[in-house]
Amino acid sequence: MKNLLIIGARGFGREIYNLALQCPGYKVEYQIKGFLDDKKNALNDFTCYPPIVNSVEDYVVCDNDVFVCALGDIQYKKKYIQIIKDKGGDFITLIHPSANIHIDSKIGVGSIVLQNATLGSGSIVGDFALIQVSTIIGHDVKVGNYSRIDCHVVCTGGAIIEDEVTIYTSAVINQNVRVEKGACVGAVSFVLRRVKEYTTVHGNPAVRLN
Ligand SMILES: CC(C)(COP(=O)(O)OP(=O)(O)OC[C@H]1O[C@@H](n2cnc3c(N)ncnc32)[C@H](O)[C@@H]1OP(=O)(O)O)[C@@H](O)C(=O)NCCC(=O)NCCS
Repeated sequence: MKNLLIIGARGFGREIYNLALQCPGYKVEYQIKGFLDDKKNALNDFTCYPPIVNSVEDYVVCDNDVFVCALGDIQYKKKYIQIIKDKGGDFITLIHPSANIHIDSKIGVGSIVLQNATLGSGSIVGDFALIQVSTIIGHDVKVGNYSRIDCHVVCTGGAIIEDEVTIYTSAVINQNVRVEKGACVGAVSFVLRRVKEYTTVHGNPAVRLN
């Protein structure tokens, strides 16, 4: 049995703990050892959660440990995943059983797929990506490494979401549109055209935020 450690014990960390309890691997492939977070009192106001074992920096990776990263900010996510990787830690992929995963879709290591999300036919999701609740990744869509797709987003057929992209709640990405590396799409936006790397767009139709 593997011992799962969740990186981040804040709000999203608690969400991912609950997800891990509901995934098919729980008590079959892994049990939950606790959280890694440098804020030792992050769970003081909450009951029902396992302990904060240590900070990511100070934690010594043990045999049978596996990890999942519950940090929303992509730069922090990259930083703390790299620290664990440098210590030889392995990451697992968590997919909620209610997710609709088409047989020819692919998903990389360390990624997280939450309740009622869809990964359509021929879609490819990279490593350490986040596909939030009720989000639809349409047919033949590509989602790059570390990208974060929030709740109720629709990436329609053939859209390309490059690495390290953030797409906030309820945005829609039009067919075959490319969102380039490091870009950000504001909540409730409709993206009709290419989004250039490291820019933020918002609105309907989405325009660049100055
Ligand atoms: C796009 C976003 C990232 C920009 O944030 P920001 O850089 O702090 O920008 P501001 O809030 O200062 O807004 C700047 C302008 O853009 C507008 N704007 C910002 N986000 C917008 C959006 N999603 N749709 C339409 N207009 C938006 C604001 O009204 C403001 O307009 P003004 O200058 O005429 O007053 C942010 O507004 C957003 O959409 N956040 C997503 C929130 C969310 O879903 N979080 C999920 C957490 S789990």
